[in-house]
Amino acid sequence: MKIIVFASGRGSNFEALIKASQKFNSYNIVGLICDKECPAMDIARKNNIPVSLINAKDANSIITAVKNYSPDYIFLAGYMRIIPSEFIDAYPLRVVNIHPSLLPAFTGKDAILQAWNAKVKTTGVTIHYVNDKLDNGPIIKQKQISVPERTLPDGLQRLETKIHETEHELYPLVAHELSSTPFDTLLISRCLLGENVRYDGGNKYSNRAETAFKNFKGNKVKVCPEIEAGFPTPRDPITDENREVLKEVEVASKKFIEKKLNTSKKILAILKDRSPSCGVKSGQGVFTSMLYNKFGEDVLIVSEEEL
Ligand code: GRF
Repeated sequence: MKIIVFASGRGSNFEALIKASQKFNSYNIVGLICDKECPAMDIARKNNIPVSLINAKDANSIITAVKNYSPDYIFLAGYMRIIPSEFIDAYPLRVVNIHPSLLPAFTGKDAILQAWNAKVKTTGVTIHYVNDKLDNGPIIKQKQISVPERTLPDGLQRLETKIHETEHELYPLVAHELSSTPFDTLLISRCLLGENVRYDGGNKYSNRAETAFKNFKGNKVKVCPEIEAGFPTPRDPITDENREVLKEVEVASKKFIEKKLNTSKKILAILKDRSPSCGVKSGQGVFTSMLYNKFGEDVLIVSEEEL
């Protein structure tokens, strides 16, 4: 797997990724993109990794530079700029970020200090896919860290050290896991690809869902639980009054999962949100709950809104 890194600062996470790539032998760091002169650039030069300095607002130049490397993933490692949404459009679910808190708590700058000042007992590190919102996006991995005694004079410093040590272990591990045991199936709601399957015709076509679908290298599976259950389009929406139709959706979903996903090991699912059939949060949609039941941690469900 080829990974390109974006950084703006010290580059300790970038360096940890390089070192571990030699140990794991599953991914290569093929380039570094920076928005300004920074110590991370020296680390790249020492390791013979090509560096490009590009204005963070210049989405076209960033896209062109990244395309030249044809990376599988883009890892942000202390890149202190907002990624242009045109860039995420081109690489949906392929831009990854590391953040020094347990998201959604303490987004933005100085997250370690924010956690310390908030007097929480536990904070941590989060690795997530990047979307348009700050430190938002589907969470890939998190690790909790307990905050040292507040009475210690160097408590904050100890916390910072613990967080960075954890980052340097976790980020390469995620790079390795995405490279060696990648998602082998991409499951996607038909309506997000613009298929006319909704009862109200309001198919929420998502450009990012389509790009992710087109570019995915493994098994690609489209789904609409209602269509699987044999409902016509258009049909009545599922409401509290006719909720019993969900039983049929459940039976059809079970069959679908057994038939279409029985050889899948790791699934990335992009599903319609706020739907009693698909839905996304556990317990919200029958299909989603069934996926969690069957695949547990081996399914990462992304809602249309998180994409
Ligand atoms: C890390 O704490 C990372 O979580 C955050 O920025 C910091 C970068 O540090 N996004 P470094 O430049 O990798 O040393």
